[in-house]
Amino acid sequence: MVEHFAVRGGARLVGSVDVVGAKNSVLKLMAAALLAEGTTTITNCPEILDVPLMADVLRSLGCTVAVDHDAVTIDVPAAPGAQADYRSVSKLRASVCVLGPLVARCRRAVVPLPGGDAIGSRPLDMHQAGLRKLGATTEIEHGCVVAEADDLYGAQIWLDFPSVGATENILMAAVLADGTTVIDNAAREPEIVDLCTMLQQMGAKIDGVGSSTLTVHGVSSLEPTAHRVIGDRIVGATWAFAAAMTRGTVTVRGVDPHHLDLVLDKLRTAGAAVTVGLEEFTVAMNGRPRAVDFVTLPYPGFATDLQPMAIALAAVADGTSMITENVFEARFRFVDEMMRLGADARTDGHHAVVRGVEWLSSAPVWASDIRAGAGLVLAGLCADGETEVWDVTHIDRGYPRFVENLRALGADIERVTVDPAR
Ligand code: UD1
Repeated sequence: MVEHFAVRGGARLVGSVDVVGAKNSVLKLMAAALLAEGTTTITNCPEILDVPLMADVLRSLGCTVAVDHDAVTIDVPAAPGAQADYRSVSKLRASVCVLGPLVARCRRAVVPLPGGDAIGSRPLDMHQAGLRKLGATTEIEHGCVVAEADDLYGAQIWLDFPSVGATENILMAAVLADGTTVIDNAAREPEIVDLCTMLQQMGAKIDGVGSSTLTVHGVSSLEPTAHRVIGDRIVGATWAFAAAMTRGTVTVRGVDPHHLDLVLDKLRTAGAAVTVGLEEFTVAMNGRPRAVDFVTLPYPGFATDLQPMAIALAAVADGTSMITENVFEARFRFVDEMMRLGADARTDGHHAVVRGVEWLSSAPVWASDIRAGAGLVLAGLCADGETEVWDVTHIDRGYPRFVENLRALGADIERVTVDPAR
């Protein structure tokens, strides 16, 4: 059976939507559980495919993992296995984040390279260079990253670029290293802060949390903990863009609006009225959005994961927008699909120029990754007729209850299952 989403454009989205924990946090928190023997519980987990996939990765390392709705319980043995199973890892890019914890706990890690990705090349050179600075050897052997260390020692590490994954892997190795590690030019995404918070609860000593310099004073062991995942700012922002594009009014609950300061400011510039509360915000758009420029950058810059939503907004905005992609070079590939929906867009290297049209035109389109899929659905909400968005497994990997949430806001969308044999 294959599935697609059938979207009929024209509805204004109105109402409120609850957002659960961040995909880009929970997977790293699950890996961090490896750092302590015993039972760690993580709550507010999103019910998305990647969570059971990560559970399989941890099981392949000898952990007992239970996934029960929004709670994941991970029982870590005294000596976890050092070799992650290829079949589990290959399905999930984020599984490389077991590398740091395994080197720290087992002094040896064998993690298959997860392979290519539709959003561009995702090398691990900075992850490896950081682990080497801590005293590990790392090689690529038979398709796996193999890292080994007799002992790990604190070190000064300067990252070439504030990579989210490299910061996480180095951090999770450094917490059990002997001495003090300083990670300079570290990523400071809210999901990194969430990981630091959980590590601190486990007994790690980390200074500078939320800044681009993380100072880690290694400790000899950590304790298991219970932790609640922060709300998913990318999902929350997706609903905010949907409200702005459909000229609707949507309240998003369960996300810290400060994680979206820049995004909400952009939507204000586009003409939306935005009000913020403690863990919620409301976006109301009266009339057609105005064109706005977007530049993707590491946090607190505009998230590359929201670039497809920015293109979708620009496609229906009044005027011409320039969108610049600085993080993942291949992410503009999905713009061709937007053009199938009638978007007037042109890309040149890192830049896309989009001249807004009043209405897009429905078509069958292909979701090449999670965020591209969500952007195409938003575009479909502003297209005449029925847009079919195919390969929805991508969207299911990042957005829990995607169709149900949109329908509750008044969107005309359904999941359609087709038997390819017919
Ligand atoms: C994470 C997020 C992803 C988000 C991205 C950037 C998860 C599961 N995924 O991915 O959704 O789009 O952050 O916010 O959390 N790079 C290197 N060498 C390295 C590591 C990275 O050159 O060793 C480059 C990458 O090719 C890319 C850039 O650095 O151009 C950013 O990558 P990174 O921040 O590491 O992204 P991920 O952690 O893979």
